[in-house]
Amino acid sequence: MATQEETFKKIVAHCKEYGFVFPSSEIYDGLGAVYDYGQNGVELKNNIKHYWWDSMTLLHENIVGIDAAIFMHPTTWKASGHVDAFNDPLIDNRDSKKRYRADVLIEDQLGKIEEKINKEIEKARKRFGEQFDEAQFRATNGRVLEHQAHFDQLHTRYSEAMNKMDLAELKQIILDEEIVCPISGTRNWTDVRQFNLMFSTEMGSTADGAMKIYLRPETAQGIFVNYLNVQKTGRMKLPFGIAQIGKAFRNEIVARQFIFRMREFEQMEMQFFIKPGTEHEWFNHWREFRLKWHKALGLGDEKYRFHDHEKLAHYANAATDIEFQMPFGFKEVEGIHSRTNFDLSQHAKFSGKKIEYFDPETNTSYTPYVIETSIGVDRMFLSIMCSAYKEEQLEGGDSRVVLALPPVLAPVKACVMPLVKKDGLPEKAREIQNMLKFDFKTNYDEKDSIGKRYRRQDAIGTPFCITVDHDTLTDGCVTVRYRDTMTQDRVKIEDLHELIYKACDMKQLYRKIVAQ
Ligand code: GAP
Repeated sequence: MATQEETFKKIVAHCKEYGFVFPSSEIYDGLGAVYDYGQNGVELKNNIKHYWWDSMTLLHENIVGIDAAIFMHPTTWKASGHVDAFNDPLIDNRDSKKRYRADVLIEDQLGKIEEKINKEIEKARKRFGEQFDEAQFRATNGRVLEHQAHFDQLHTRYSEAMNKMDLAELKQIILDEEIVCPISGTRNWTDVRQFNLMFSTEMGSTADGAMKIYLRPETAQGIFVNYLNVQKTGRMKLPFGIAQIGKAFRNEIVARQFIFRMREFEQMEMQFFIKPGTEHEWFNHWREFRLKWHKALGLGDEKYRFHDHEKLAHYANAATDIEFQMPFGFKEVEGIHSRTNFDLSQHAKFSGKKIEYFDPETNTSYTPYVIETSIGVDRMFLSIMCSAYKEEQLEGGDSRVVLALPPVLAPVKACVMPLVKKDGLPEKAREIQNMLKFDFKTNYDEKDSIGKRYRRQDAIGTPFCITVDHDTLTDGCVTVRYRDTMTQDRVKIEDLHELIYKACDMKQLYRKIVAQ
């Protein structure tokens, strides 16, 4: 059995081999933590965005969309707090000249201790077999207790240092834990210092007095600064939401795990403006709604969990993450935050504009509170790829790699294949493809054996393969082969549209969400 790490490597390789994700500017050896989506990746990504966008703007008549610019007035980022506080604690190793995030070095150390505990448990499980009682073993085994005490002490010390952003203490922890640089193997560390994650550039020519501007690190601020525009022009009444999908940029120092942590990525964010005092009710509403959205895809309910934040940002009064079980553990895919009136108040203060809502019911004006839902498109993409990738052993010693993607998200819905390249079969196959192509993304393939063609479609997750044979010309039927079961049916050509539509129509997911 492959380890989780090996499986993840295979998923990354598969993404490249089948046109889902390529390293950016690969002919120049790539650019760290920047990726391009290929011919199949872009279709899957667009389907994810479509699913999110319509679930916001079609299912909610009080949610509208915008598409704000990536560049924003630099004061935006002063007001939002990003200029002063969007920092990571960094440390350099003097021998390797490599730079690390101090918090990540310590978290890796915590991970190593956990690994030691897990190894002891796995060893004991093998020794004791069915009688093994993990809880009792954890509570009594000397080595496990020792590692656990070490873990708890380090965890407490680390959390306190991070809460206070005590940089000297973070360095001291690294020294006390004898953490070495993975490259040089030495403990020759510099002091820890803060590093701002925003990319900056200049707008205008230097002679005119160029202005330092930032590439937005989140799409949310584009929504906040447009609150008044949308509220007034759309005559929106509270509660209402503004949704946006767009690129965000962060100069991540530790960019790891493929497209999980990127320097250029895409967010789908929705800010829901509400009356102060109703935030707990709306926070719970969005928490539940967003989980339903994830679960409706059918990747497996057990793969999701909430991680409620104990430590909140100074402006938030509740926050939770929806985590997904990746091959490298449960990881955040989406954040749901109750942001109070912090952002709108800050923009009012820095712009000098009155940013309020006149409530006709109470005849009063106030600054709305906000519940935010924020999900990374790329992380969502990764979670779908990880759950879809399967290696299957087949009867007769054969094997296949199949992407069991939810059909609604699959890049290609159907591939039409003439059994042979003659006797009028290609023409008939093209005729069927032409009939389907206005509604579904289809492929046409006439090369190699049917078996090889099936494997190619399995590898990109195509739910239906449609084979045209000699009988088709007389009986008007084709063979439909299903990706997941590999079973086949004889289907009338005029029934194909309905068959594909039933499996790939997003409306079925929306109905599931609304009915739950
Ligand atoms: N406006 C709130 C906000 O940006 P966040 O938790 O920093 O909150 C929200 O980001 C989501 O954006 C995350 O849950 C994740 O899915 C995605 N995300 C954040 N940083 C990312 C990165 N470097 N690479 C890929 N996705 C990222």
